[in-house]
Amino acid sequence: MRFPARALYEQRLAIRDDLAFLRELCKEVGSEKDLNLAQWCSWYAAVLDFKPDLIIELGRGKGNSTALFTQAANRLGDVFVASFCKSTDWEAETGPRLVAKLGADWFSPLKIYRIGIEQVDFSFVIGDAKRILLLWDAHGMVVAGHVLSHVMPMLAKLDHLVICHDVSDNRMWPDASRSYEGRHFWHGMDAFEKAPQTTARLNILWLNTVVDQFIPILDFCWRNRIELHSADWEVKEDLVDCHVKLDAVRAVLPDDAFSPVTHWAYFTMNESSGPWCFPAMFT
Ligand SMILES: C[S@@+](CC[C@H](N)C(=O)[O-])C[C@H]1O[C@@H](n2cnc3c(N)ncnc32)[C@H](O)[C@@H]1O
Repeated sequence: MRFPARALYEQRLAIRDDLAFLRELCKEVGSEKDLNLAQWCSWYAAVLDFKPDLIIELGRGKGNSTALFTQAANRLGDVFVASFCKSTDWEAETGPRLVAKLGADWFSPLKIYRIGIEQVDFSFVIGDAKRILLLWDAHGMVVAGHVLSHVMPMLAKLDHLVICHDVSDNRMWPDASRSYEGRHFWHGMDAFEKAPQTTARLNILWLNTVVDQFIPILDFCWRNRIELHSADWEVKEDLVDCHVKLDAVRAVLPDDAFSPVTHWAYFTMNESSGPWCFPAMFT
């Protein structure tokens, strides 16, 4: 089984054991439009299965991923979560609400940085970590430039996995309309955000998104002879289409905690021994 399917399957009992707490946390964060409970469970399984010693979160927003990573770190032990975002939502809203409920100890694996990701020297963050899970959930070319030219050369030498959010897999809906429905073709996420009613989404083969960074990510993966893996497709092929395994997951997880569609992809340079290619940094 490939990683996202294996993680859900192997960690199904851990998810079941923690589900009431995860559900309560998800409700406290109060932003299911950014990440619903099934997506929480899918990333919770990913962390428990990958067992990183460092989680780097790029893009915190209201803090769904922040909270679920911190809970996973508490469960695993010896995991540090470094969260980077320019948003103030965590300090202003989510953090104080969670401290009041959970007490300060629960936060000990977590360090919050409110900063532009492109300003961060990640060599100080990575330090002597050996196994890193990076969540890439801050969108746009500026962050992409910093990740691909500055962060990836350091991760390439270590065990790592990069989870990329906000991408769907067209193969999950083979009968979906391919029409533009009278819209312009996609021409950047800023244009999309300004006029979503008149701008189509971007399709590149299986990949369907509205955010910019998937273009340089696909380019980077091709140059480095690695794959951009679709989590939804691998869960479909390796878990959903295998009835015995699906039944085992469904037997312990209710419908809101397991979905075959969670809209993320992942890549790792550990798939290749090189030669590696990195873009120059923007100046
Ligand atoms: C989609 S939200 C993150 C959602 C979060 N991971 C969750 O699970 O709820 C993306 C966040 O990235 C932040 N962001 C975008 N570009 C950034 C940058 N250059 N530096 C820091 N944060 C950035 C945005 O402000 C926003 O809060």
